[in-house]
Amino acid sequence: MDTQRPDGRARFAIFGSGRGSNAAALMAQFRKGSLDADLALVLSNVVDAPILNKARAHGYPAVLVENQGRSREDHEALCLACLREHHIDHLLLAGYMRILSPRFIERFKEQCGGVILNIHPSLLPDFPGLSAVAAQWQSGARVAGATVHFVDAGVDTGPCLLSGSIDVRGDEGAEGLAARILEEVEHVIYPRAVRLLLDRLRRGAALHGPQSRTQTSEVGTA
Ligand code: GRF
Repeated sequence: MDTQRPDGRARFAIFGSGRGSNAAALMAQFRKGSLDADLALVLSNVVDAPILNKARAHGYPAVLVENQGRSREDHEALCLACLREHHIDHLLLAGYMRILSPRFIERFKEQCGGVILNIHPSLLPDFPGLSAVAAQWQSGARVAGATVHFVDAGVDTGPCLLSGSIDVRGDEGAEGLAARILEEVEHVIYPRAVRLLLDRLRRGAALHGPQSRTQTSEVGTA
């Protein structure tokens, strides 16, 4: 399917590999019209990933580009072709369990011209990588949270756009904390981060760097 852009509005894609709760939170905001842009593609690398059904249920194009049985280069080339076909400007990673190669990031910039964002369940730069919530719980930290950041060639190392935090409850355990970070922080800050990005793009402001410090969003109550 080749999708034309009739009105010049920015077009987003979401990539995810699993349950897709962040994707669902984003879809709800795109659907409501509270983000001044269009969601034009939801792509997963995993057969039967719930994110694909969530996209279909919301009426968004859901595409499977399986990585199994393909080289990284072939898989990423197919993903780029799909992004091109849907005229995507910006990419939102939401539980996408693949590291994007530097080559993909470079070609995305050339082809799409936009940015790639990711959401991570910790207050970056603390606790990057896998098992971030368990590590936060085990560290005894009193405050935990999540961060939306620009994607670069490292793992959770790109400049931060927006973070949100909650107080850790002494008795909730790593699972309870993970559930609250997801619902009270991630689902709130990812749509806000997209709004912030669109606002900076519209104003021609710096997207990150010294002139645009990471913002912290007020979320939930402990
Ligand atoms: C979220 O915790 C996100 O921060 C991390 O992967 C998880 C994805 O969850 N990158 P979901 O698929 O959005 O429910």
